[in-house]
Amino acid sequence: MLLPVALLCLALTAPALGVPVAVERPQKPRQKLLLVSFDGFRWDYDRDVDTPHLDAMAKDGVKAQYVTPPYLTITSPSHFTLLTGLYIENHGVIHNMWFNTTSMEKKAYYPTQFQNDWWDNGSLPIWITAQRQGLKAGSLHFPGTAASYQGEVAMVREVEPRFYNYGNETYWQRNIDTVMGWFGDQDLDFVSLYFGEPDGVGHKFGPDTPQRRAMVRQVDRAVGYMRAAAERRGLSGHLNVVITADHGMSALFRASEIKQIVLSKIPGFSFKDLSFHLVDYGPSGMLLPKPGMLDKVYGALKGAHPHLHVYKREEMPARMRFSNNGRILPIVLWADAGYLINGYLPVQTNKGEHGFDNHNMDMKPFFRAVGPAFRRNLEVGPFETVNIYPLMCHILGIRPEVNDGHLNATKHMLVSASEDKPGGMSTVKMAFTGLAAVVGLLAVVFIVRVSVHVHKRRNEDRVSNSSTHSDGFDEETAKSTSF
Ligand SMILES: *[C@@H]1O[C@H](CO)[C@@H](O)[C@H](O)[C@H]1NC(C)=O
Ligand SMILES: *[C@@H]1O[C@H](CO)[C@@H](O)[C@H](O)[C@H]1NC(C)=O
Ligand SMILES: *[C@@H]1O[C@H](CO)[C@@H](O)[C@H](O)[C@H]1NC(C)=O
Ligand SMILES: *[C@@H]1O[C@H](CO)[C@@H](O)[C@H](O)[C@H]1NC(C)=O
Ligand SMILES: [Zn+2]
Repeated sequence: MLLPVALLCLALTAPALGVPVAVERPQKPRQKLLLVSFDGFRWDYDRDVDTPHLDAMAKDGVKAQYVTPPYLTITSPSHFTLLTGLYIENHGVIHNMWFNTTSMEKKAYYPTQFQNDWWDNGSLPIWITAQRQGLKAGSLHFPGTAASYQGEVAMVREVEPRFYNYGNETYWQRNIDTVMGWFGDQDLDFVSLYFGEPDGVGHKFGPDTPQRRAMVRQVDRAVGYMRAAAERRGLSGHLNVVITADHGMSALFRASEIKQIVLSKIPGFSFKDLSFHLVDYGPSGMLLPKPGMLDKVYGALKGAHPHLHVYKREEMPARMRFSNNGRILPIVLWADAGYLINGYLPVQTNKGEHGFDNHNMDMKPFFRAVGPAFRRNLEVGPFETVNIYPLMCHILGIRPEVNDGHLNATKHMLVSASEDKPGGMSTVKMAFTGLAAVVGLLAVVFIVRVSVHVHKRRNEDRVSNSSTHSDGFDEETAKSTSF
């Protein structure tokens, strides 16, 4: 009579104990995630080119109308936002170029990749967080890969050589094969993979050119190659792929068509009043006036050109989130779409640029996702790229660091829109399950014990009138049961 009760109790607690109740279900492998960036892939680049593989991916997964990158819309800062979920003012990688305002030194994009103190400014990229929680992470060419963070690096990584052809399709396929090998042979859980195009052609030829369209076809072939490679290796059942970019691209006006912004020609402005400046870098700039010169410099520049925006760091529009960091210089400049900020002379020769206001539609990147965590054939509205980080942590089943994103900006894309973690159990859930298991086991033990006890007592009663007493059985069982 008590046995059925004990069995019922066991059945109720069995899921918590991990005991199969009815049918044996195979253990689902932890979900993997590949984050891919195609530098400078603007949200609408698929509109004037046939992109069969991107279309197939959208059909099998999720496509966002566009995403909003952080300001400043340039490569290293925006990629570090993808890896941390933080706005640029909060992660500190405020520019592609490392600089020292005392020594006047500047480093270009590539050498800055190796400048640890520039990248490791108090925020951890997702590789490190994943690894600290028992996962395996890798990165190939993704900005930030070469640096170490609190002495740690992605456990598998490849940094491109100094002079690398970022557009070579043969390299792209080799890199995809490398990454699929990391997932397959080395069982990595998370990899970030970077491609330097279509940014290169966007700069050189402009975004509305046959060269850019040809490169988008190459991106499309790479996406097809990637998905086929995952399929071939039997990874597609548990591999999620998120594809996005750091910023878009905007066509520049021809110099002869417009009144260009040349700082040295602005009345009342003099480079002699500055102790350091970062200009001739597309449409953005930062100035450090000499002591006491801030208001003079600001006053000369403010309103000096109808397409030049001039702000004191502290007065930057709050929505741009580019103010609250000591690395940002006291005066921030940016130009409207189509314009550049030149120092002494117009020396910049690109046909396309980024670095503009992140509200400008030309700066918006694309976003696609496919895999077991994602719903199929779903088009969603725009969201900020800070939200990609919590989404990735959720899929991987890891606890995110403090960040500026929200899972609720993206969770409607997921198969399980509930609080269920596709990648693994949350700490709370794990603790609860463990507790339920202990309570369940204790209940079973108690019932069995009581049952045995009662049975025994009945027998003893039959033999004699003496009674038994508690021997601490339950307590011992509880102590020896560790989860
Ligand atoms: C910047 O340069 C100055 C002068 O050379 C030097 O004292 C300082 O340590 C440098 N700072 C950094 C962060 O490299
Ligand atoms: C971040 O960098 C600034 C200088 O650029 C430095 O003063 C600060 O201590 C750094 N913070 C951390 C946590 O590394
Ligand atoms: C790409 O790299 C391969 C291997 O090094 C080389 O044979 C090929 O010519 C390159 N293609 C282009 C377009 O540069
Ligand atoms: C997320 O959800 C909370 C509570 O439902 C809501 O207050 C907040 O506005 C949401 N945030 C976003 C970014 O949707
Ligand atoms: Zn870029």
